[in-house]
Amino acid sequence: MNIGIDKIGFSMPNRYLDIKDLAVARGIDPDKFTKGLLQSEMCVTSKEEDIVTLGARAAEEILTKEDKEKIDMIVLGTETGIDQSKAAAVFIHGLLKINPYARSVEIKEACYGATAALEFARNHILSKPNSYVLVIASDIAKYGIGAGGESTQGAGSVAMLIKKDPRLSILNIDNTYLTQDAMDFFRPNYSPYPFVEGKFSTELYLNCLELTWKRFLKENNKKIQDFSAFCFHIPYPKMALKGFKKILPETMDEKEKENYINNFEKSIFYSKKVGNIYTGSLFLGLLSLLENGNLKAGDNICLYSYGSGAVSEIFSMTLVENYKKVLRKDRINDFNNRTRLNVKEYEKIFFEKIKIDNEGNANIEGNGEKFTLKEISSHKRIYNQ
Ligand code: CAA
Repeated sequence: MNIGIDKIGFSMPNRYLDIKDLAVARGIDPDKFTKGLLQSEMCVTSKEEDIVTLGARAAEEILTKEDKEKIDMIVLGTETGIDQSKAAAVFIHGLLKINPYARSVEIKEACYGATAALEFARNHILSKPNSYVLVIASDIAKYGIGAGGESTQGAGSVAMLIKKDPRLSILNIDNTYLTQDAMDFFRPNYSPYPFVEGKFSTELYLNCLELTWKRFLKENNKKIQDFSAFCFHIPYPKMALKGFKKILPETMDEKEKENYINNFEKSIFYSKKVGNIYTGSLFLGLLSLLENGNLKAGDNICLYSYGSGAVSEIFSMTLVENYKKVLRKDRINDFNNRTRLNVKEYEKIFFEKIKIDNEGNANIEGNGEKFTLKEISSHKRIYNQ
């Protein structure tokens, strides 16, 4: 049975900060961010947005009424959860009015969560072949004003509908994974921002890639030429480029290398404008490659997932005939229609805390748009439907 991605959607906040403005405000050479990290913009959320609102919007972009009736499992990966107990997937289940006879869960392992969610989806469909599974990766990457990772912040959500006989790509059964217990990036429950060993985290990303890649090739008896393109977890585009260079053999023919680099550029196009979206960033890279590239049916794409802490996984998918038909061609308009903030506005909006009174109430004073946070009442989050 062929199981894979039938549709893929994305949502981001409609406000952004130009990374050069941030550099100037912090007294840093803008080239460090634009050339050193390959970042150009970052998406900025307001207090009426969270992983639920972003996730609901990403899913709404792709789901029909019929899909909503057929979905019997929602798995949401995140590392910016809004509740220690209730899964964000349950809120989204309610907002989207999904079939009640569905499982809804949230899973976590830093930026790796959504990759595990894909595997859960496939296993579910193996036992229930007519199931539709909604996989959502939703995160807000917030390091704090002046923090080392500030220039790599971002926010967004990717939603994927997983089913048999998919119209976009088939998930191959070749996953190779690795765990290394390390403290490169982590966020204890009492801290709003992560603690990051920046340099160590980049080394661990590359180290896990090297180990997982070698084993992946060996376990599956594959070589790099079996894949037309690669997607990487993108904490910032330069990190992914370093990863890519690590696996490209020095002896590779220049023309062949150029093809790979060309596809790689397509895969980082959206992330350059969005920033890090943690567990969704690998799949934002995939969406960017598919919507902006020229791959053909039958091409294999290899994906590297990395979650600090650390868990990594390499797996692949094969594109299906006419896959372009289920993709948007006009997404660039969404980027162009965003509002550009200045640094003062970004600092106020992105870091504004919701003030909750003694009874657990907060008025969000939002714009009332569909799928935004409306209020908190007796500690309960209430969303605009
Ligand atoms: N012009 C051009 N390039 C410049 C420059 C200038 N004026 N100044 C510096 N650069 C270059 C540097 O040479 C460097 O490039 P190389 O890495 O290719 O050598 C690059 O800009 C970054 O410079 P630094 O290493 O000096 O930057 P930094 O000390 O500020 O740290 C960082 C960078 C560690 C990534 C930091 O932004 C950070 O901590 N980020 C958050 C953690 C992170 O993203 N880690 C990635 C792996 S972990 C992961 O993947 C999980 C996740 O999503 C968080």
